[in-house]
Amino acid sequence: MSTPGPVLRVALLGCGVVGSEVARQLNDHSTDLAARIGARLELAGVAVRRLDRDRSDTGIDPSLFTADAAGLVARDDVDLVIEVVGGIEPARSLILTAMERGKSVVTANKALLADDGYALHTAADKHGVDLYYEAAVAGAIPLLRPLRESLAGDHITRVLGIVNGTTNYILDQMDSQGTGFAEALEEAQALGYAEADPTADVDGFDAAAKAAILAGIAFHSPVSAADVHREGISDVTTADVASAKAMGAVVKLLAICELTGDGSTVGVRVHPAMIPRSHPLAGVRGAYNAVFVEAAAAGQLMFYGPGAGGAPTASAVLGDVVTVARHRVGGVTGPGGSWYADRPVRSMGQTVTRYHISLDVDDRPGVLAAVATEFARHDVSIETVRQRTEGPDGADLVIVTHQATDEALTATVNGLSQLDTVREVMSVMRVEGE
Ligand code: HSE
Repeated sequence: MSTPGPVLRVALLGCGVVGSEVARQLNDHSTDLAARIGARLELAGVAVRRLDRDRSDTGIDPSLFTADAAGLVARDDVDLVIEVVGGIEPARSLILTAMERGKSVVTANKALLADDGYALHTAADKHGVDLYYEAAVAGAIPLLRPLRESLAGDHITRVLGIVNGTTNYILDQMDSQGTGFAEALEEAQALGYAEADPTADVDGFDAAAKAAILAGIAFHSPVSAADVHREGISDVTTADVASAKAMGAVVKLLAICELTGDGSTVGVRVHPAMIPRSHPLAGVRGAYNAVFVEAAAAGQLMFYGPGAGGAPTASAVLGDVVTVARHRVGGVTGPGGSWYADRPVRSMGQTVTRYHISLDVDDRPGVLAAVATEFARHDVSIETVRQRTEGPDGADLVIVTHQATDEALTATVNGLSQLDTVREVMSVMRVEGE
């Protein structure tokens, strides 16, 4: 294996869990990478927030560290920029500066892409550079490139994903061990999955950013995180999980991106849902991620693997680095952003799905009739009803509906909670995956 002559100089922004792994893999596999690219990759500098931290364990030449990220990305001897700092600023400004200076960018920054993907792609096109971000969604799983490139000739209709490992771990513990939400969250924190402040994961912000990116790519339309209907998992109870089990289902936090109606609009939502245990996504355990894609010609595809972690995320980053480096060597760029379809995002009220509703009711004549009437009043059709007696004069009533709009269901639930005979609406959860 000969070492080719040309050299491409890489600026690395961030040297945390992912950045240090990227540097390690760049170094460990340098000969193979050079042979695959046709040019040697060389670290030009590593921007960090604090220069005084001991980074000897990274194996990076200490003279490469700098606190001047803006200066590093603007340097003439830098060809490619890898951004693994995260957050909106200064990441956005650094990426824009890099692109203005003719450098291609690889980033793992889902929040930024979900917020501003359109503007960043526009800048990349204007300056004739690449912008790649496979690591931003579902870590190591090859997903964005298959959607952008392998399925570019097909018509994607739906993307259904478990794209947050922390919440999947929590829900899996609740399902398999009967653990309550708070205890499962503590376990996730102890294992290092959940952050000390778990809001981004637990409240669905992380999954919503990923859903926006997926929907934009799948449906060739600009979708931002603010367009995504988002519900987290903190209200999921052990009773919900047990109820799902009783009907052969499991609760998962799903990111759902779909073409709606006649395909003229896009639906994007993140919420907990019950899915049948027979669905491929139901078997995704622990902190793993999986994304189920439905396309007109390809049919159903499933992408599965680790969605986080230093080495897996660095694998996705390095894959992008090799791609953009090959483009540099060949004097080309890859496909840019594709927004030509420009489909608007449909409101959540018009979303059609099935629902599982659990009620605590009086157990006496006429109660079932009153409850059924409330569903009928809002044109929501009932699929199944299950009743279990609770104590001498109460009952749990579990109702699963046929497809109904979110709007109609919300009105039904409001009506149910006003009925004298309904003591409490215990849970309302969507049912997906059939
Ligand atoms: N915190 C995310 C997760 C990983 O738990 O899946 C980074 O996106």
